[in-house]
Amino acid sequence: MLEVLQATTVYFKKHKIDSPRLNAEHLLAHVLGEKRIELYLEFERVLTESELAPLRGLVKRRGEGEPLQHLLGTVEFCGHVFLCDKRAMVPRPETEELVELIESKIENRESRIVDVGTGSGVIAVSLATKFPEAKILAVDISDDALTLAQENAARLKVADRVRFLKSNLLENVEGTFDLIVANLPYISTRDRHTLSRDVLHDPAVALFASARGDELVRELIAQAPSQLRPGGMLALEIGIGQSEALLSALAEKNYRDICSKNDYSGVTRFLFARYG
Ligand SMILES: C[S@@+](CC[C@H](N)C(=O)[O-])C[C@H]1O[C@@H](n2cnc3c(N)ncnc32)[C@H](O)[C@@H]1O
Repeated sequence: MLEVLQATTVYFKKHKIDSPRLNAEHLLAHVLGEKRIELYLEFERVLTESELAPLRGLVKRRGEGEPLQHLLGTVEFCGHVFLCDKRAMVPRPETEELVELIESKIENRESRIVDVGTGSGVIAVSLATKFPEAKILAVDISDDALTLAQENAARLKVADRVRFLKSNLLENVEGTFDLIVANLPYISTRDRHTLSRDVLHDPAVALFASARGDELVRELIAQAPSQLRPGGMLALEIGIGQSEALLSALAEKNYRDICSKNDYSGVTRFLFARYG
């Protein structure tokens, strides 16, 4: 087994896959139906052809840039295992930080929350598991994403507490909320050529706004005040270099308690503001 892992690691290095050994271990554990840590107890074991055959196919696809999470079919997010496939964007670790920050800011456990651009549902579903009394609405413009998000809500047993709705931003959303959270597409269409092979497996509707990149976030900043309860909060994940202009946009629209937070890599990634 150790030899297979080493050979796979070399193959991934040659194909410029980040964290090659970790990728190899994840795929082997997946094929064997084991936890990654369990591999360490069996390094000497010789793998059978029926174990190797499916691994070869997955290794080839990973080498071609298919995301690891698509090959595994799952992703870990905020301590839960979510289904993950090409119907929605692969959730990113930064977004886990957004959920943690929100958890520390929610005062009313019975909050009404809307997650705009829910994708695989990770934000809405994670918040539903943390705040059982909250009423949560998850919206997306993509039917595929909404189907996957609903599967995730059912899997994590919160389907009765998260409602799903197809909507362009808040267009079809009725009522007012204590929290509007959004990780919307924030990449400029001009930056398409700079993206890695892995990232280009995400649906285009999940990645790109328009020429600037921050158009959808700006539109939500303009829409949100009419659907926030007095003192309600808007929480946003944004792209690199977008904070200054978006902080100004929040101030221009008369939000208060405006603040930004960095992610663990030091990028100003999250904006928070209250209205009314
Ligand atoms: C960057 S992904 C984030 C997905 C998920 N919230 C996460 O953090 O992993 C953005 C999501 O916004 C959705 N989206 C794009 N344009 C939208 C719009 N105008 N209205 C609502 N959702 C939109 C996409 O379909 C995609 O699922």
